[in-house]
Order: sequence, then structure tokens, then C-alpha cells
Amino acid sequence: MKQQREHWASRVGFILAAAGSAIGIGSVWRFPYTVGENGGGAFVLLYIIFTFVIGFPLFISELTIGRRAQKAAVFAYADLSKGKGNWKLLGWLNLISCFIILSYYSVVAGWCLSYVLMSLTQFSQGKSPEQIKHVFDILFTSADVNILWLFIFILINVGVVISGVRKGIEYWSKILTPALFVILIGLFIYATTMPGFSRAASFLFYPDFSRLTPSGVLNALGMAFFTLSVGLGIILTYGSYMKSSEDITKNGFIVTMMTLLVSLIAALMIFPIVFTFNFAPAGGPGLAFKTMPVLFAQLPGGLVISTVFFVLLVFTALTSSISLLEMLVANLIELFKWSRIKASIIAASIAFALGVPSALSGSKTLFPNWKEIYGKDFFDTMNYITQSWMMPVAGLLTTIFIGWILKKSDVKAELTSGSKIWSKWFPVWLFLVRFIVPAAIIVIVLQEAGIVNFIELFSNTQ
Ligand code: PHE
Repeated sequence: MKQQREHWASRVGFILAAAGSAIGIGSVWRFPYTVGENGGGAFVLLYIIFTFVIGFPLFISELTIGRRAQKAAVFAYADLSKGKGNWKLLGWLNLISCFIILSYYSVVAGWCLSYVLMSLTQFSQGKSPEQIKHVFDILFTSADVNILWLFIFILINVGVVISGVRKGIEYWSKILTPALFVILIGLFIYATTMPGFSRAASFLFYPDFSRLTPSGVLNALGMAFFTLSVGLGIILTYGSYMKSSEDITKNGFIVTMMTLLVSLIAALMIFPIVFTFNFAPAGGPGLAFKTMPVLFAQLPGGLVISTVFFVLLVFTALTSSISLLEMLVANLIELFKWSRIKASIIAASIAFALGVPSALSGSKTLFPNWKEIYGKDFFDTMNYITQSWMMPVAGLLTTIFIGWILKKSDVKAELTSGSKIWSKWFPVWLFLVRFIVPAAIIVIVLQEAGIVNFIELFSNTQ
């Protein structure tokens, strides 16, 4: 008997689940530190442009492919291409990327869990800002503690995914995503009163292009992909649970705007602290973990606020990591006909094993010479290859697939089925997806690979 595919119970449920995947520690933890490392305003501007011109068209492309196929990534590409070419390999690329991201993302989520406990034990009491910051370095270099939290976080993921995903994800996302918004906005309002706020605002919004490097451009693209969770087949999988009466474009736009907003608010909350206390803006992955407790230590009731903040970070990480695990599980079930339980346990075990070297990056107990050899520690290497290479390349192939391989009339019917008003925008989207998005990705990636130096070419012609 053919099993009926489960669909989202409500439109709000879908939006919050997709937003739950997109909004995560990527926005609150990674975006601010990447902005810091890439010099501020110009990077932020590029990130915003890439989000609208590249991320958003791709987001709705993935939803369209998923809903059309009613399958997870590997079979969606295989079925829709009708065996032409080897498009299922794109699904496999998605799968591998998701394994790698889940592995190191869980390490960061583990830090969030650790900060919940640290908040409860009042770790920042009686410490100077420098001492509070230093606690992160101690955590980062403690092998066993990192492994413990990684394990616990992955275990929580398995629990949720096994016990009926959609009910789990939909239910929790509805509560947690709005809760995160409220606390972020509260902290942001407080940050506006700090002496460093105006410097932070000009750092973030005054685009100084002299500080932008070619790598920064690739990073901004990677960031747009990462925060929207595109280029991974996840949004595609979520699209496969969507009803055909849903408006893909409108829903996609709402999620894109929410994600962008959270990233910007997170940066506007963290940089005033950085400038008020004279921290280095290029503080690296520890930035959010170092700065936020310094702020909390200043506030009355800091213990409660700090605990609530890190609990919410854990939850927002969870709604993202669950989307990664769900994508893996959905594919493994379809590929190997495993039960959901078996697929969840196997996927999580692989992610845990892959996460171990990332969790041990700080303590250098495994691969101690990795950084000397590859220039980045293991954690950063995984971070870099997925964000800067695997996701953009998969995104490029996805646009080629939907723009050139699928039949235009089918794509139009699927994309606009929930709302006819978007029909007149279809040619604009198609133009973006066929020409602009692939061209932009190719240029940026070739530049980073050092194959063609567009920046030099461009400046020579002036
Ligand atoms: N978009 C999520 C975030 O910003 C991270 C993520 C990336 C989740 C890729 C799923 C896939 O935190």
C-alpha cells in the first residue's frame, strides 16, 4: 500500500518550521563574528543583497522542487530529471553537506547547552569582563566537556526526530521562534542604550569597501546560503511536506525577511557590547559566547536573563539541527527503506563521529597538526568547506536544474499553484534563476579559487 505523505498541519506551522530551520545560531552566533572578521558594513550590505538576489530565489526553487517531487532530495532530483543525467548525485552532495554541518553545528549547540548550566551556576559572578571572556577559551579547549555536550545535544535531536517530527517540529517552533524574537528585541533595545551603540551601528551599516577582500565576498555568499539553510536539500524536503494550495513565494519571502531581521538584530545587539568594552570585533567563533555574558553580568537579574537567552539559543539551534537530521533521515528512509528509528540512530551516530574531531579542535587532542597543515583547525575547515564550497556549488546546480532541466510550464504551474498573483513575477524569478544567480555564484567561486581574478580584471579596465 502506498503511504500517504504527511503534510504540514497549517500554514503558520510550515512558516515557523522553515523559519526555525533558517533562524538559528547561524544568525546569532556566526553572522556577527563573520561580520567582525570581514570588516563590517560592506560585508553586511553584500550579505543583504545576496540574501535577496541569490538566497531568496533559491529558497523558493527548493520549495518548488520538493513539492513537485513529493520526495526528499536524492529521489526528488532522480525522479524529476527522469533519469536524464546523474542528478541524483546532487542529492548525495546535499546529504554529505548535511552530515558535515550537523556534526560541527552540534558542537556549537553543545557550547550553548554548556552556557545554560554555566548561567545557572553563575559563572560570571565577581569576574571582570576579561575573565568572563576567558571562560569560553577554557570551555573551547576542554576535550571531555565538548564531547559530553556534543553527545547530549545529538541525543536530544534523535529524541525529537524519532518521536514524530512534524508534530515535534511544528509544535515547538510555534512556541520557540516567537519567544526568541521577543528576547532578542528586548536585548537589542537595551543595547541601543550602551555607549558603544553608535560606533556599532556605523561599523555595521557604513560600507567601507576597502575592508572587503575577495574571500569576504565569498563569505557573504556563504553566509546568505547558511542562514537561509539553502543549497542543502533541507528546504526542498520541507517543501515536499507542503500542500499545493500553499503560496510558495509569499511564504518563502516571509521566512527570508524573518531570517535577515534576526541576523541584523543579533549583530546590533553584540557589537555595542564589543565597542563599549573595547573587545576586538574580529573575535572569531567565540564572539557571541564571550560578549553576551559580559552584558548579562551588568544587568539586574542577569542570571535569569542569561539562562533564558542560552535556553532560547539551544532551542533555536535545535529547530535548525532537527531540519538537518530530518533531511538526512527522510533520505535514508527512502534510499534504504529503513524505519524512522533506525535511520535516525544511524544518521545521528555518523554525525556524532564526524563531530568528534570538531569538538576536539580546541584541545588539539585529535589531529594536533591539522591547523599547521591546512591553515584552519578541523572545526573551521568543516565550516569553511561546507559554507564556502559545498553549499554554493549545490546551489548553482539547483538553479541549473530548475532553470534549464525542468520543463518551464511544470515549474511555473508548481511555483504559482498556491497564488495566481505571482504569475506575473514568474519571468523575473526565471531570469534570476537562469542567468543572474548561476553567474554570480560562478564568478564568486572562481575568484575564490584563484582561477580568474575578476577584481583585478575589473580594476585594470578602469
Ligand atoms: N540556518 C541555520 C542557522 O542560521 C543553520 C543551518 C544551516 C541549518 C544549514 C540547517 C542547514 O543557524
